[in-house]
Amino acid sequence: MKARSLVMPALLLGFFFVLAASCAKYVPTEVGVAPGAPAPEAKALWSYITKDSPYTEWRMWPDKKALYMGTVPHGALLTTYVNGGARKAVIQSAGVMPNGAIIVKENYRPDKEMVAVTVMYKVAGYNPEANNWFWAKYSPKGDIMVAGCAPMCIACHSGRKQFDYIMTK
Ligand code: HEC
Repeated sequence: MKARSLVMPALLLGFFFVLAASCAKYVPTEVGVAPGAPAPEAKALWSYITKDSPYTEWRMWPDKKALYMGTVPHGALLTTYVNGGARKAVIQSAGVMPNGAIIVKENYRPDKEMVAVTVMYKVAGYNPEANNWFWAKYSPKGDIMVAGCAPMCIACHSGRKQFDYIMTK
C-alpha cells in the first residue's frame, strides 16, 4: 500500500523535471544578452522589435521579397525580416546564427491579412539544449500567443537541427 501511494507523487515529480529540463528558466545572470538587446522575455522582445529597433526598418531575409509563399503552419504568405547579425549569417551561409540574431516573420492569410508575427531570438545560454533560441508568437497587435523555449515550435524546427533550427532555405 505504502509503495503504491508514492507512485503518483513520484510520477508528478518526474513530469515536472521533464518540463523543467525541456525549457530553461530565464536567469538574467546566466544568459548573455548583448548590451542594448532585449531580455529573452516576450514583452521586452516585442517592445524592442516594434519601438527600439522597428523590424519593419530592417532588411528582409536575403533573396526573399515581401509576401512570398509559405507552408503550414505559418501562413500562405510570409514576409521575413532579419537583424544585422542574422542577415550576415544568412549571406555567409554560416550554418549557425550568432548571439543576438533576431528573425521576425509576418504570417499572412491568402487574402493578405496578417494573422501573426513569429520570432526567433538567439540568446547565449538561454536554452543550450536547443541552440539557445527564444521563440515567440504574437498577434499583429502584439498580444503574446506563445513565448519561451516553446516545445511546440522546437519540435517541428528540430527537423533542421543541423541548420541551427532554421527552416528557411
Ligand atoms: C509544423 C512545423 C512548424 C512549427 C510547429 C513551427 N514552425 Fe516555424 N517554420 C516552419 C517552416 C516550414 C518554416 C519556413 C517557412 C515556411 O515555409 O513556412 C518556418 C520558419 C520560421 C521562421 C523563420 C526562420 C526559419 O526558421 O526559417 C520563424 C521565425 C519561425 N518559423 C518561428 C516559429 C515559432 C515562433 C513557432 C512556434 C510558435 C514555429 N515557428 C512553429 C515550420 C514550423
